[in-house]
Amino acid sequence: MNITLRQLRIFEAVARHLSFTRAAEDLHLTQPAVSMQVKQLEEVAGLPLFEQVGKRIFLTEAGREMEVYARGVLATLEEARVVFDELRGLKRGHLHIAVASTANYFVPQLLAEFCRRFPGVQVSLDVTNREGLLEALEDNVTDLVIMGKPPARIEVEAEVFMENPLVAIAAPGHALAGESAIPLSRLQDETFLIRERGSGTRSATERFFHEQGVSLSSTMEMSSSESIKQGVQAGLGLGLLSLHTLEMELALRRLVILDVNELPIIRNWYVMHRSGKRLSAVARSFRAFVKDEAGEILDLPTLD
Ligand code: PGA
Repeated sequence: MNITLRQLRIFEAVARHLSFTRAAEDLHLTQPAVSMQVKQLEEVAGLPLFEQVGKRIFLTEAGREMEVYARGVLATLEEARVVFDELRGLKRGHLHIAVASTANYFVPQLLAEFCRRFPGVQVSLDVTNREGLLEALEDNVTDLVIMGKPPARIEVEAEVFMENPLVAIAAPGHALAGESAIPLSRLQDETFLIRERGSGTRSATERFFHEQGVSLSSTMEMSSSESIKQGVQAGLGLGLLSLHTLEMELALRRLVILDVNELPIIRNWYVMHRSGKRLSAVARSFRAFVKDEAGEILDLPTLD
């Protein structure tokens, strides 16, 4: 089959986004260029690869087959890149990491130190919630992932490198702010600002309240730790977040940690990759760096 790599890359992007426009944006091409390459690929295959129903496009059966082969070819090429990075040593490697939005409060500090040591390393950092990270692991589109708990449904090699305490927070003027040894049951009637579905913080929180037999009477959903912190400061309710997202607000006394008997929830931070993945020299050394030095390098708030 006379298929070019360019056609496969373009096809793969359209199949991933199920949109010609988004594929074009992703690849910095014009939409007609994308359509033209897909059309040529369809001619080689002798079958349509996409079909349009209403305003949406879908893969045809032939399209789904083509997707499997396209991903296979592109993954093999990626593996070749890793091997050549390795042969060149650490001087000019590329590091692709994906981290939980909560971990984004400290990962840039780690990257800054790593890049100081290895100035030739190019980094790309994706920040998303737990659900997005599971997809990145599943699709094998990242070297390493940093998040709060290894997934159950995907085989990974994961190592703990730091504790991740989740604490209850309130505005300094809140009625519970000055109290000590608050029983968890007293939080039951408070409004809680919680993260979106798909967030690891959210699922840990839900599991915790469930295990403690406490059901929250009023919750408000927000899609980032940042908006929860703003909401709590503004007096919308209480929050339960990783201590590692709170450095600035605690230092400026814009938020306080509530002294709740059953808290903090102690979770851990893990650095992980898919089992069987061939890590590049750069990825291997970043993983070792995180494991051995993150605790020392980071200056994060602690509970005393
Ligand atoms: P998230 O991160 O709440 O931003 O998804 C925490 C985690 O991975 O558990």
